[in-house]
Amino acid sequence: MVKVITYGTFDLFHEGHYRLLQRAKALGDYLIVGVTTEAYDRARGKLNVVDSLVTRIENVKKAGFADEVIIEESPGQKFSDIKKYHIDIFTVGSDWTGQFDYLSDYCQVVYLDRTKNISSTMLRERNYHIQRIGIIGTGRIAERFIPEAKLVSGVNVQGVYNPHKESAEKFAERWGVDAYTELEAFLGTVDIVYIASPHETHYRYVKAALEHGKHVLCEKPMTLKRQQAEELFDYAKAHGLILYEGIKTAYCPGFNKLLGIACSGAIGNIRNVEACFTKLENPNHRELTDRIYGGSFMELGSYVLLPVFKLLGTEFEKVSFDSICGKNGLDLFTRAAFKYANSMATVTCGLGVKSEGRLLISGTTGYIVAEAPWWKTAYFEVHHEDPREVEKYSERFLGDGLRYEISDLLTSINGSDKNEFKLTIEESEAMADVMERFLIKEQRQV
Ligand code: CTP
Repeated sequence: MVKVITYGTFDLFHEGHYRLLQRAKALGDYLIVGVTTEAYDRARGKLNVVDSLVTRIENVKKAGFADEVIIEESPGQKFSDIKKYHIDIFTVGSDWTGQFDYLSDYCQVVYLDRTKNISSTMLRERNYHIQRIGIIGTGRIAERFIPEAKLVSGVNVQGVYNPHKESAEKFAERWGVDAYTELEAFLGTVDIVYIASPHETHYRYVKAALEHGKHVLCEKPMTLKRQQAEELFDYAKAHGLILYEGIKTAYCPGFNKLLGIACSGAIGNIRNVEACFTKLENPNHRELTDRIYGGSFMELGSYVLLPVFKLLGTEFEKVSFDSICGKNGLDLFTRAAFKYANSMATVTCGLGVKSEGRLLISGTTGYIVAEAPWWKTAYFEVHHEDPREVEKYSERFLGDGLRYEISDLLTSINGSDKNEFKLTIEESEAMADVMERFLIKEQRQV
């Protein structure tokens, strides 16, 4: 019996897929088809897959050529599948010509002619109109956003808004987008607004964008008051708009893998979370000079709060803060301690004190540790009582990582709610709540 194997995403199943499978089957007697998982596709930079894994598998089965369907989860899997299933022929479309020649030591490699003028990418672009993104703000994060957005098919950065003409024009020229200094005119030209302006302007801009019927991706912290966050999410929901708080860690594949493992009983019941993020900042920068909206916790708090709320929930019993402040009164280093019914958490962030940035999750049977930069999760370990017993996990984190949240936002806009668990409204509102408590304790008038 000649055994054949092929792999693919098979999103929006089309004629090219059908013909590939038909010819793959004809190469032998038994055809195995590997369908990629969403996490694997994202990790290798293939974003915006529309169909779920279940739908893609069903479509492959419906075509009627596969004798067996398996899932493909990691880069080294092809080689091990060939061994495991005693494969004689490995085949894929000619768009991959040459790329799998290394497998020819183990089986025959056949590249089948790709069917012309059809692809999943083409269908995605045809079915869903390109979403035009407008950016508010022209700072460092806005600069990072554009190259990341270019990697997500289905969106196009259209223009930038900054009330200061010179800043808007300089940014627009550098990135080949349109410059706007009038908010109304700017909002009229886009579908999605990405807000990357100073913290204190977020609420106002999110509100204006939503009132103009735009979807919004807002940098963290989205708001500094719970009531404002609630108001914005309620409005978005009532008007069928998508509102995301942009904490990039929440959307990246490695962090989601870590959450999955932590919550799957690998370390028993979770009892303690410690998250630390420090980044030494120039004392003359806004982050350390803005007396009201600056400081470590405003800047980095969202990152460290994220694993706490994801793992322990938002229903904490109490929170207390301790800070070390600079001459101008801004916190250079802050620690927030949370008490839950059966667990606790400590989050630490610093702009003027350096520490070991680490995420440590302790459970009743073991602990998980992810070293800095855990907020761009690429590697973590699971430890147990026996120090020799260590499980190591890695996942790719591509570029600046903003591509993951942009891609998820687009999927949500295009009608799938499969991302809702990544950063829930409740979690975002709890973040605003903690920010508000911190500002009250600091007696800052916002
Ligand atoms: N394929 C093909 N002809 C096409 C499209 C795809 O023969 N017109 C083949 C690919 O070469 C691969 C398999 O179908 O062997 C699955 O490809 P997949 O990447 O899922 O499909 P694409 O349409 O190429 O997807 P995308 O546009 O997202 O890259």
